[in-house]
Amino acid sequence: MIYFDNAAGSWPKPEVVLAAMERFLRECGVGPGRSGHSLSIGAGRSVYGARESVARLFLLDDPLAVVFTKNATEALNLALYGLLEPGDHVITSAMEHNAVLRPLRFLEEGGVGVARLPCAGDGTIDPDDVRRAITDKTKLVVLNHASNVVGTLLPVAEVGRLAAERDLLFCVDAAQSAGAVPIEMKEMGIDLLAFTGHKALLGPQGTGGLCVGERARSRLRPLLRGGTGSSSESDNHPEFLPDCFEAGTLNAVGLSGLAAGIGFIREMGLSAIREHESDLTARLIDGLQDIPVTGILGPADVRRRTSIVSFNLDGWSCSELAQALEDRFGICCRAGLHCAPLAHRTLGTFPEGAVRFSLGIFNTQSEVSTALDALRDLATQGRGAMS
Ligand code: ALA
Repeated sequence: MIYFDNAAGSWPKPEVVLAAMERFLRECGVGPGRSGHSLSIGAGRSVYGARESVARLFLLDDPLAVVFTKNATEALNLALYGLLEPGDHVITSAMEHNAVLRPLRFLEEGGVGVARLPCAGDGTIDPDDVRRAITDKTKLVVLNHASNVVGTLLPVAEVGRLAAERDLLFCVDAAQSAGAVPIEMKEMGIDLLAFTGHKALLGPQGTGGLCVGERARSRLRPLLRGGTGSSSESDNHPEFLPDCFEAGTLNAVGLSGLAAGIGFIREMGLSAIREHESDLTARLIDGLQDIPVTGILGPADVRRRTSIVSFNLDGWSCSELAQALEDRFGICCRAGLHCAPLAHRTLGTFPEGAVRFSLGIFNTQSEVSTALDALRDLATQGRGAMS
């Protein structure tokens, strides 16, 4: 089997991730930070270790400013509902995932102004368009770092500088970039960084979070309130980090796997991972040139994208092509709209969508060659060979 769906969830997971989760469950698999016994204290230490790993990866000053959620979607909901009120204005792009688009649509119906900036045909955005869209009501700019449809990297550092100059908050959806490209929160001017654990961070599902920079801390309202194991004498939710934005027992076993995934990335080196994935992407894009695909979406330069390549093959619908790739060649990928309808409108592939190959650290050059041969085969035989 060839797994090319790492943008939906990385697979396989490093052995150290599996081992860390098993160790957690065997040695201290109970609720963290609730009870005073040694198992609960051990679980609490393990969660704090995960906060430290995330903070170190994104160069965030304080591990307690890493708020854990179950995924990037929940982190983005916390950021958007926690900041925006009727009368506010928010700027976003036409390359966003539904994790941003849908909460913003709901907030818009309640009186929040939303500017959805158009992107160029390869998915990039001009920071000057962001500047021009600012009004005296603008509170927030929210952008993805890398598109989940084509991997296009948006100019977050430029937009971050602009947001800081204009005293706007800047929220980045790093679902596709965390663990794949370097992110330095302060340097890039990011106030709120939403990430998920189960993609390039190589952890399990059900992990993710929101890193809350200093400028956002006093302005963000909680999404959840409840038990935290702290200030139990009060029925008011605590006001200190991270408890002010977390409630209920955390997915501590998942977070032990996430910390191990980040440890694996540190050990390999993020730049070595980026180089490997960029080489695979370049080879894939190059190999597609002599196959009758209707457009390879996104920037040609692999330095401006992550390891996602979307395309369509002449004579095939994307869903039939994905099915044939798995049935006949054991290649797993994702076809359709990828929960990002505006991105497909931008790229000219709405409503049909495209086939997406998303490569990961465990993919190889020989898998890319096999996939290119498979596409050549399917292009020659056409759909007729299926029936
Ligand atoms: N957003 C994820 C994807 O692009 C699920 O596949």
